[in-house]
Amino acid sequence: LKIPLKIRRIDRRDRRRLETILKAQAHFKPEEVQIALELVDLGLTQAGQEDYIFRIAEGPEGQTLGYICYGKTPLTDAVYDIYWIAVHPTSWNRGTGTVLLHQAEEEMKRRKARLLLIETSSRPPYGIPRAFYRKNGYEEVARILDYYAVGDHKLIFGKVLTP
Ligand SMILES: CC(C)(COP(=O)(O)OP(=O)(O)OC[C@H]1O[C@@H](n2cnc3c(N)ncnc32)[C@H](O)[C@@H]1OP(=O)(O)O)[C@@H](O)C(=O)NCCC(=O)NCCS
Repeated sequence: LKIPLKIRRIDRRDRRRLETILKAQAHFKPEEVQIALELVDLGLTQAGQEDYIFRIAEGPEGQTLGYICYGKTPLTDAVYDIYWIAVHPTSWNRGTGTVLLHQAEEEMKRRKARLLLIETSSRPPYGIPRAFYRKNGYEEVARILDYYAVGDHKLIFGKVLTP
């Protein structure tokens, strides 16, 4: 069921579809969607910035299926954060997330990244992304209890890259 994908840079025409993709995530709170979209707008308008790098997965009919946003963590020498990854729920489990993540990882390796981090929540709806990260070689490196809310911990997943 895997679909042939093209990974490309973000483009103004993606704005509306990315909003749809973010709003289709049942577990994202409105303020999370808002923050993710603010970053999308930054990625679209701040030419030349490299703090938030966007990559889009495009399906065979040119449809935007999902995206990843990553960037170097400020004040570190070569740690990178994966800020967002999202695929439209109707396209889950067909390899799109893996292709996006692998593409981003290859680019971060070229930029000499040594540690990749992804933050997520301990809440049950985040079980799918947690399983996805583990499957891709990330492990929980830190946990801040009661971070997002009491009982909703922040988990930091990490992957060490060896040169
Ligand atoms: C995490 C996410 C990007 C994965 O994208 P995807 O295109 O489905 O991923 P892939 O098809 O490449 O990877 C499949 C793996 O993802 C997980 N997964 C994807 N869909 C799943 C589902 N419906 N049920 C259970 N696991 C699922 C599994 O680990 C699966 O591996 P498996 O097939 O061995 O079980 C996608 O689920 C998503 O957009 N989630 C919502 C957004 C989100 O929460 N992002 C992270 C914020 S911290």
